[in-house]
Amino acid sequence: MIRTRVLAALVLGLLALSAAGAAAPARGPAQAGAPDRLQWFREAKFGLFIHWGVYAMIGREEWARQLLQIPLAEYQRYADEFDPAGFDPDEWAALAREAGVRYVIITSKHHDGFALFDSAFTDYDVGHAKYGRDILGPLAASMRKAGLPLGFYYSIMDWHHPDYLPRRDWEKDRPAAGADFGRYLDYAQNQLRELVTKYDPAVLWFDGEWEHSNEEQRAFAIGRMLLEMKPSLLINDRLWRREPGYGDFGTPENFVPATGLRGPDGQPRLWEACVTMNWNGWGYNRAETEFHSAGQLIRQLVEIVSKGGNLLLNVGPGPDGRIQEEFTARLRRIGEWLRTNGEAIYGTTASVFERLPFFGRATVKGETLYIHVMGWPNDGTIVLPGLKTGVRRACLLADRSKALKVRRDGANVVVSLPARAADPDVTVVALELDGPPVVEPRPLGAGADGRIELPVYAADLQSVMGQRAYLDHFYRTTMLTNWQNVNDYPEWKFETSKPGTYEVLASYASMWGGQASYEVEIDGRKLAAKTESSPSVYFPATFRVGRAILPAGEHTLRVRITAVVNNHAMNLEKVVLVPSAP
Ligand code: GLC
Repeated sequence: MIRTRVLAALVLGLLALSAAGAAAPARGPAQAGAPDRLQWFREAKFGLFIHWGVYAMIGREEWARQLLQIPLAEYQRYADEFDPAGFDPDEWAALAREAGVRYVIITSKHHDGFALFDSAFTDYDVGHAKYGRDILGPLAASMRKAGLPLGFYYSIMDWHHPDYLPRRDWEKDRPAAGADFGRYLDYAQNQLRELVTKYDPAVLWFDGEWEHSNEEQRAFAIGRMLLEMKPSLLINDRLWRREPGYGDFGTPENFVPATGLRGPDGQPRLWEACVTMNWNGWGYNRAETEFHSAGQLIRQLVEIVSKGGNLLLNVGPGPDGRIQEEFTARLRRIGEWLRTNGEAIYGTTASVFERLPFFGRATVKGETLYIHVMGWPNDGTIVLPGLKTGVRRACLLADRSKALKVRRDGANVVVSLPARAADPDVTVVALELDGPPVVEPRPLGAGADGRIELPVYAADLQSVMGQRAYLDHFYRTTMLTNWQNVNDYPEWKFETSKPGTYEVLASYASMWGGQASYEVEIDGRKLAAKTESSPSVYFPATFRVGRAILPAGEHTLRVRITAVVNNHAMNLEKVVLVPSAP
């Protein structure tokens, strides 16, 4: 019912827009002949997210005010004292260029309500802080010089404005009596108009939309207003409560959707995963000790791009405006990788393979197929299953002068690789084809010996916000590691051509024999087990989980962890179904 109303409102919104001749806030594939507003964004693939504000002075992430339940008067002192002497927008732009990002999004106003621009509609901004100057203006100028589109994050939720409702349940110093949410929305609309007029942003990136319905927070009116002001402006889905089909792109937060995102029409939808480099928070966290490695981030970029998305990678600059070494070092390393391999990222489209039979991912640009090899194969070759298009030449992007040996083996293409990877994290093989790649789908199923092998690199890794698990290559084995969040799980779909009974085996490495536990779920039936100890965390062993009787047809198998010890359950290599006597 609510959904119908939302859709009806959207349709009305679209009609109003087309009447006004402006671009629509939500759209399917671009119409023939119409300029594609999304093209630059679709091709950019990699952006830099900057969470910065008064909270950086506290050093406890951007939710500091809520975490510490800081009264307004006390938070005001931070707002007054905000004076980032080390803020150098040219330096940020240079870092962004070095990192190889193609656009930048910065918080213009986060949930705390403090504006990083000198707003005419509030005193709660940088202009009234000790700093006393605008931040977004100089930043916009520096980014423009560097050729990087700049967009603004804007929080609808506001913990400071007297008219914003509802209140946090711990707030005592902002009485709700007399507050008028409509007046708050007027304020927000004024600020948004101000942002577009003064700084001409490429993107408005909304957030903090979850406390109200689309209608309550005037999502359609605001979207329309913005697009009338600037038809080429891109708006994320969080102005419209993240429903599929709303906004120009979806915004999965700190997880990679296993098979990309689709719109309500079932067609692939543009999306951008926003991701932190550290485990805890988006704003500066002075106590942070856990950071993803640069290699992990490079693989995540590839993973996202191979599924048709963009990566928006976050930094939280410190109170003085400097970006900490942990962030800059990682950005520089990603940039270094992109200088060699960027051709396989920028302007590419999603993989044409449903999965590859090794730890790697694919991207495509026209008649070139890029294979991103993440775990160097032990036998020196990679097999591209069902690739029907002819291969004219193959080489590593790291060494284009040397052609790699390619042979056809039935419906597969086999590429011989050098003995060693050119890059410790991802080595890219470029294959020039006779035409755009055509691949015959290969469902997972039994091998010649009847065994069904389900390695983690061929799984869809399901997760929600807060993904922790990722794939890594240890010595000669690819495993799912850092597996501590029960919402992260690998899932395989496979087919059997005849009914059969199978022994279910799991290969994993664990030091927590008898302590952590997991379940193998086949078509909804669960086999529960406790983890057993393997020789080490890097070397897996194979353990029997149970037995399964399967009819012929399509099956879904998941492995879920059910109890974790010391933030660890196991490093999973694969599940194997071995035919056995009934
Ligand atoms: C969340 C958080 C916020 C962060 C944002 C980034 O919704 O509330 O702090 O800015 O996500 O995606």
